Amino acid sequence: MHIIKWSSDFALGIDEIDEQHKALVGMINALDASTHAEYSVENMRRLLDELNAYVRDHFGFEERLMAGGGCSPELVTRHCGEHAYFRSVLRDLTADFDNGRTSITVTLIEYLVHWLLHHIVVVDRAMAHQLNASEPALKARVAAALMQEMTDDLTESERHLLAELRRANEELERQVEVRTRELRDSNRQLQTDLDAARAETRLLKAELAAAKG
Ligand SMILES: [Fe+2]
Repeated sequence: MHIIKWSSDFALGIDEIDEQHKALVGMINALDASTHAEYSVENMRRLLDELNAYVRDHFGFEERLMAGGGCSPELVTRHCGEHAYFRSVLRDLTADFDNGRTSITVTLIEYLVHWLLHHIVVVDRAMAHQLNASEPALKARVAAALMQEMTDDLTESERHLLAELRRANEELERQVEVRTRELRDSNRQLQTDLDAARAETRLLKAELAAAKG
């Protein structure tokens, strides 16, 4: 029995965020499951690491999305504040676990669940509502935030390589565009020559018929 069951009531209508929220629910369920059966400190530590990393990436994604515009400054401040609070709760909890000062109890997990669901249905929903009102720019902003998320994790040399690849790709696209234009022009010229040749043939046939007649 899972401590949280995903429900369509939590869906915000922004697919990327809904998928991330489902993954968070899955991670909290896994944390809960590990308190019941085959408890091991290593397993719990691994799940805490995964949760910390995922929460950092997910909150970062939402914050980048809001940075693209479409949300009121009051909402951005409140939202980022809630994220900072939860990140610090998870950080402290992990440090206490490492120091043997706390164990991961059902009560603690219930608190995480309560916080997350409240955050999704109140603050995340307000963000989605304001972002959805700015359609169709939202799709481009989601794509930009995803791209930013990917490049954030890159090393300096990977970033450099990616920039080179982008430049090479743009150059390739430009060459394809030029070549397509040339082919279209040459095709148009061929059609004109063909029409002229047909007209000439018709004329010759007519002259031949007149000469025979
Ligand atoms: Fe959020």
